[in-house]
Amino acid sequence: MNSRQQNYDLLISQITALTYGESDMIANMANISAVIFNGLPDINWAGFYLYKQSQLVLGPFQGNPACIRIPMGRGVCGLAAETQRTQVVNDVHDFAGHIACDAASNSEIVVPIIKNGVLIGVLDVDSPSFSRFDESDAEYLCKVVDILISSMSVDTFSVDTSLSGNTKKLESTE
Ligand code: SME
Repeated sequence: MNSRQQNYDLLISQITALTYGESDMIANMANISAVIFNGLPDINWAGFYLYKQSQLVLGPFQGNPACIRIPMGRGVCGLAAETQRTQVVNDVHDFAGHIACDAASNSEIVVPIIKNGVLIGVLDVDSPSFSRFDESDAEYLCKVVDILISSMSVDTFSVDTSLSGNTKKLESTE
């Protein structure tokens, strides 16, 4: 096993532990983007776009501020979402329609998130190096997405954040 695989195995175990028993998708996406951003060498952005009302909308991420809305089929994220296939781009400047959020980005990988055949969004990771990502990155980041999808099914600590629940609590303290 090479050091790259060892590093990914460490990231996978951290992500497994952080998401264990937690079904809140946004919370898990926030922690996953932090683990990837801090643990994967030579990257400058890691985060999620969520599929909402026929477009991708920026979700939890680490890195510089990014474009908020991406139409389906546009850019690397839009293509991964539309085709529901992982996209590995060695040189983003050669990719027609690439959406440049950070001028420092030179290569990119985008993994679609599909639960029970339904598109949830994409995981996007950018690097300042050319050809930073290969098939092993695709394989490991697919595992990360699988952990996220599995976590969404558990309801161990499901929290009622509805307004009615809060109102009830306020009433009961009066
Ligand atoms: N470059 C992406 C847009 C998102 S940013 O990289 C964070 C794209 O072409 O879809």
